[in-house]
Amino acid sequence: MRLVFVGPPGSGKGTQAKKLAEKRGIPHISTGDILREAVKAGTPIGRKAAGIIAEGRLVPDDVMIGIIEERFAKGDCARGYILDGFPRTVPQAQALDTLTERMKVPVQAVLVIDCRDEIIVERITGRRSCEKCGTPYHVKFMPPKEPGVCDKDGGPLVQREDDQESRVRERLGGYHRQTAAIIPHYERRNLVRRIKGEAAPERVFAEIERALTALRI
Ligand code: AP5
Ligand code: MG
Repeated sequence: MRLVFVGPPGSGKGTQAKKLAEKRGIPHISTGDILREAVKAGTPIGRKAAGIIAEGRLVPDDVMIGIIEERFAKGDCARGYILDGFPRTVPQAQALDTLTERMKVPVQAVLVIDCRDEIIVERITGRRSCEKCGTPYHVKFMPPKEPGVCDKDGGPLVQREDDQESRVRERLGGYHRQTAAIIPHYERRNLVRRIKGEAAPERVFAEIERALTALRI
């Protein structure tokens, strides 16, 4: 299975991609998670990206393409992959085409999770993520069994710095201005399937599985 998840911030890319990757036993590659790890570790990329992420802007394409090339070089993507948050611009999509063609692991489908802007803000401001494993929760829609503690590994649940309302609006603007433009890039190859992202998480997951079954993936 070789998939790309596209969708506005808070549409549920991470929630759905993580679940699907665990079920199929393939890597879930979230560029947001990779960047946040780099920021935490204080690497040169992390230091460069920290302010950009906090402001809700996009990290430059050359940095992101370098990150993805390095991640694919680990070799485990030969079994399949689920990309979450990459590509986000047309140059990133073109670079991914080149990379996956060279490695003979072309993208099989692009799942676009649709969700209206007004729903996004409530979702993101209520989001909490496990500091250890990154699993996302929501204080109202997907609460953990014990408040503030991850169900999976007991890690503390924290709020992302870029999840304040003004930053969320900046990220949404970026999605509509830049990222939405990658959808026609994949539509030309009939790779795009639209998923209704506003239903409950398990219903969204069921719709994803139906779409994949129809594609025989
Ligand atoms: P990234 O981490 O990718 O953030 P994002 O795209 O803004 O998306 P989110 O992670 O906020 O949302 P999500 O769709 O994963 O939703 P989730 O499942 O958590 O990127 C962060 C930053 O890094 C960017 O702004 C940029 O600066 C930089 N960056 C990353 N990649 C880049 C790239 N390729 N190029 C340039 N810069 C890059 O769900 C959200 C909340 O809703 C959770 O609380 C969840 O529990 C809840 N929820 C999920 N589904 C449902 C549902 N169906 N019903 C109710 N609640 C739900
Ligand atoms: Mg995410």
